[in-house]
Amino acid sequence: MVRVGVLGATGYTGLELVRLLKRHPYVELTYLSSQSFADKTFSDVYPHTKFDRRLNRIDPDEIADKCDLVFTALPAGTSYEIAVYLAEKGLKVIDLGADFRFDDPEIYETWYGQRIDYKGFRRVYGLTELHRDEIRKADIVGNPGCYPTSVIIAAAPILKSGLWRDSTLIVDSKSGVSGAGRSSKLDHSFSEVNEAVKPYKVADHRHVPEMEQELSKLLGRPTNVVFTPQLVPMTRGILSCIYLSGIEASLDDLLTLYGDFYKNEEFVHVLPKGVYPSTKWVTGSNYVFISIAKDERTKTTIVLSVIDNLVKGASGQAVQNMNVLLRFDEKTGLDIEPLFP
Ligand SMILES: NC(=O)c1ccc[n+]([C@@H]2O[C@H](COP(=O)([O-])OP(=O)(O)OC[C@H]3O[C@@H](n4cnc5c(N)ncnc54)[C@H](OP(=O)(O)O)[C@@H]3O)[C@@H](O)[C@H]2O)c1
Repeated sequence: MVRVGVLGATGYTGLELVRLLKRHPYVELTYLSSQSFADKTFSDVYPHTKFDRRLNRIDPDEIADKCDLVFTALPAGTSYEIAVYLAEKGLKVIDLGADFRFDDPEIYETWYGQRIDYKGFRRVYGLTELHRDEIRKADIVGNPGCYPTSVIIAAAPILKSGLWRDSTLIVDSKSGVSGAGRSSKLDHSFSEVNEAVKPYKVADHRHVPEMEQELSKLLGRPTNVVFTPQLVPMTRGILSCIYLSGIEASLDDLLTLYGDFYKNEEFVHVLPKGVYPSTKWVTGSNYVFISIAKDERTKTTIVLSVIDNLVKGASGQAVQNMNVLLRFDEKTGLDIEPLFP
């Protein structure tokens, strides 16, 4: 059994990690952290889980003693110090925040306002389907953001194929409110969100540099992302729509390209022509559904994808990365059907 800790266990991604890890056959949950609920039990905070495990404040030495691998499900900037400390002690770390996502620390500093230094650790951007080999060798995995997961998986086959000659990707994405975490802000209160769709951080969202980093690698040259995120009145789910101009390939050829690219992937499903995905098809699961359409009149290719932001967009992908890191079957603990309707 691998001894696993979850730091930030009471947040939405932490709760989702606990849900997935409790049913993982090779995992023993040995440390759960919370600042606000320290010394209470997990089921005091979430009675529906019936999980009477004690919550502790973050104690680095106790964590190093009790765990082999730790998930840090903390706000950006909060994980860096503890993750580096634990990695120095030989633990594997999977961070769900942004502190280990960037190849260039200056980009992190520009967007997150904090200086970081990876100190020679083997860190990797943990988009499992694209970076498996590096994840196997990593000390610290920077688990991707939710929007970037939905966009990078959907764009990867076309960008890697060389079929797209342009360099600016236009993306609009709609997200459920759990994407903002459990701590409530006025913008996320029921009366502000219900029966409304609201763009926010237009062309200024912190996920833009992350998408640009990974999409540029796939394309083999720099690419820009024009990004409009929108908040919609649902709890979970992301729908991303990507617009690419000037691709000559037919829709049938693109469907074949995508089918081949993801043919061995358990969690990524390419839909047949004319079938468009719904966020309801992924709720609670680690699945990604992708569909492709062509507007022949304007020569625009449209790629659509859906994920559950808390599963493939966060904790599900983090467990998938743990499975890769520890050489377990990648599906272990993740063979969960979506909850529909
Ligand atoms: N929500 C998503 O869909 C999503 C998707 C991908 C990635 N992420 C990333 O995952 C991370 C966690 O997100 P979340 O949505 O789970 O957030 P959340 O619901 O707000 O939970 C945050 C957790 O971190 C703990 N925490 C907050 N400040 C802390 C501090 N200074 N020291 C120690 N613990 C602290 C909280 O503990 P207490 O309240 O118990 O004290 C809570 O358990 C973030 O970096 C987020 O960007 C989120």
